[in-house]
Amino acid sequence: MVDWSEKCWKEMLIYQRKSSIAEDMLDMIAAWLDLKPGMTTVDIGCGLGYMGYTYWPYFGQGGGYIGVDVNLNLLGEARGAAKKWSQGGQALFISGDAYHLPIADNSADLVVCQAVLQHMDKPEAVLAEMVRLARPGGLIFCQEPDNLSTLLSENYTSLPARTVEEHLLADKVHRLAVAGRIKLGRGDWTVGIKIPKLMHDLGLADIRIRKNDRVTCLLPPYDDPLQQIQLDSIKKQWLNDERHKRWTEELEEEFLAGGGQPQEFDSYREIDKRIMSIFRQQIEKGEYFACGSAHFYFVKGIKP
Ligand SMILES: C[S@@+](CC[C@H](N)C(=O)[O-])C[C@H]1O[C@@H](n2cnc3c(N)ncnc32)[C@H](O)[C@@H]1O
Repeated sequence: MVDWSEKCWKEMLIYQRKSSIAEDMLDMIAAWLDLKPGMTTVDIGCGLGYMGYTYWPYFGQGGGYIGVDVNLNLLGEARGAAKKWSQGGQALFISGDAYHLPIADNSADLVVCQAVLQHMDKPEAVLAEMVRLARPGGLIFCQEPDNLSTLLSENYTSLPARTVEEHLLADKVHRLAVAGRIKLGRGDWTVGIKIPKLMHDLGLADIRIRKNDRVTCLLPPYDDPLQQIQLDSIKKQWLNDERHKRWTEELEEEFLAGGGQPQEFDSYREIDKRIMSIFRQQIEKGEYFACGSAHFYFVKGIKP
């Protein structure tokens, strides 16, 4: 199991979250969910409390938030940070396993998770636990990606164009790695698009899905605050050698588990090395540009 409190993964929980959803999109999602001050909310796999501090302005006054996670280090940090953001209500952080949550049936107005179901080998069982906690009429809300669709989609960037063969190899690597992840019990990277069906199978009502409208657009000299945040995130994450090494090792393991051949991964690694070196140079010289988006879903359903 990934230890999300390790530096290279924790940085993802910090930097990627800073620019993931536009403020007007958040207002729209909060209205779509009909969030109201005073609601009681449980956040499964809360990490550093992202769902708590992000939606607190909409439900927190007079309300309550319980963040649950297996990682005690993250819980400790989240608890400390919440002293600042949880004014006017109560935020608690407790240790617990998403498959057996230490919380009573029918006890929450809202049960949420972000980027958690994608890492679970039985997302449907975690979703069933979330349903158990919600009161009748309460809301289940998930923010989860379809990373395979993101990896297969075309971005417009300053990086050299890949040949059709290189594209097809990368697509094969990603498709087989996603299948391999599932085989290895590391979760389903495409879960975001499957959640409506999972909710339907659990008997939820009024199931609805929307997509994050964030499009990353980096144009030199990156002269607005959002681009600066995104650039910082690239430097801290994508150009972090340790993270890239771990990411590539994981990808190789999953590709092989999905049925890929070692020599195919060697070819993929060579292409990746070449592109990463150009990427690094362009970032250092301030010449990199990019326009593209991720497939990231907001899904809600009501417990009858
Ligand atoms: C990708 S992180 C997402 C954290 C947070 N929701 C966010 O979006 O920033 C996944 C989180 O799920 C937690 N987690 C993993 N397995 C879990 C389990 N079985 N029960 C509870 N939490 C779990 C991890 O410790 C980690 O904090």
